[in-house]
Amino acid sequence: MALNRTTQYFSVDDLARAAEALRCGAIVAFPTETVYGLGADAFNPEAIARVFEAKGRPHDNPLIVHISDITMLPRVAAEIPAVAHELIDQFWPGPLTLLLPKSKDLPTSVTAGLSTVAVRIPSDPIARDLIRLADTPLVAPSANLSGRPSGTTWQAVADDLDGRIDGIICGNATQIGLESTVLDLMHHPARILRPGAVDVHRLRRISPDVVEAEHLADHEAAAVPSPGMKHRHYQPNARVRVLRPRDIHRDPGTESTLRGWIGIHLPFDSSHYAMVVPCQNVDEYAARLFDAFRMMDNRGIELIDCEAVPVAGIGRALMDRIERASSK
Ligand code: TXA
Ligand code: MG
Repeated sequence: MALNRTTQYFSVDDLARAAEALRCGAIVAFPTETVYGLGADAFNPEAIARVFEAKGRPHDNPLIVHISDITMLPRVAAEIPAVAHELIDQFWPGPLTLLLPKSKDLPTSVTAGLSTVAVRIPSDPIARDLIRLADTPLVAPSANLSGRPSGTTWQAVADDLDGRIDGIICGNATQIGLESTVLDLMHHPARILRPGAVDVHRLRRISPDVVEAEHLADHEAAAVPSPGMKHRHYQPNARVRVLRPRDIHRDPGTESTLRGWIGIHLPFDSSHYAMVVPCQNVDEYAARLFDAFRMMDNRGIELIDCEAVPVAGIGRALMDRIERASSK
């Protein structure tokens, strides 16, 4: 399969043409409220193969299926447990992905051979309109080269994937900036495999025994079927360092490393930093993290200092991404 494609840039007023291309087997990136996704018809095995190829994604890492409304769910899921109904009522459309039993009609490459399918309804109206117009569920992994920070602007998507995919819908920067919460409903208690904007406390209001996979005993965690967790993720070229509150006011030293800073406070001494990305609050920090990583890479920054935030709400997901980025 050749990768030297001409990438078409669609405006958000041109969704009908992008949807038509998707129906014909094209792979097209589009905005969601979390990050940009690389879309393809979930029932077209050739298009799905090209998604894996374009991203350089390992074939054992399954894809999330996106639907525009609940009537599409039976096309991808074989059955919907009672607890899923309540979560769906509460959190869809939105940044919550549910693992459900896979429909036998869905190609096995979507789920990397697993018997479950990960599915969500995005809240971004552009994403939903696109799926509705394409009239088919769309697989959409984050629109970035595998291992790189997820794309949160169409320009970031273009940097990674121009010439490798058929199209990009040029919407706004994504609102949340971190990928959806992934919740495994196939085990009791239900498990959060990836923290996101819908945090454990909100989930527990519907399903009181939800646990975070990291908090399971080792023998239980070993049985968690989340192939994505073992792959490298979210990493800029620069080294990433997490600065805890006690480290923030410490002089970072004088060696000549080109440094970047991202956080809610200003660094101890901004003159140590070639680039500083100060955020008003944790939401803005989450929304800007991946783009800041990319900007700093483009500036040749070698070390990125990330201020640690409290592990609550979106802060839980933010610290998860920062810690993964910092572990080379
Ligand atoms: O916010 C999001 O979820 C974005 C936007 C585009 O919707 N998509 C996204 O997709 O982050 P991706 O492919 O980058 O991440 C999907 C995660 C991976 O960690 C993958 O392993 C996991 O979901 N996953 C998908 N299907 C699964 C399954 N059947 N069982 C366990 N984990 C699964
Ligand atoms: Mg991804």
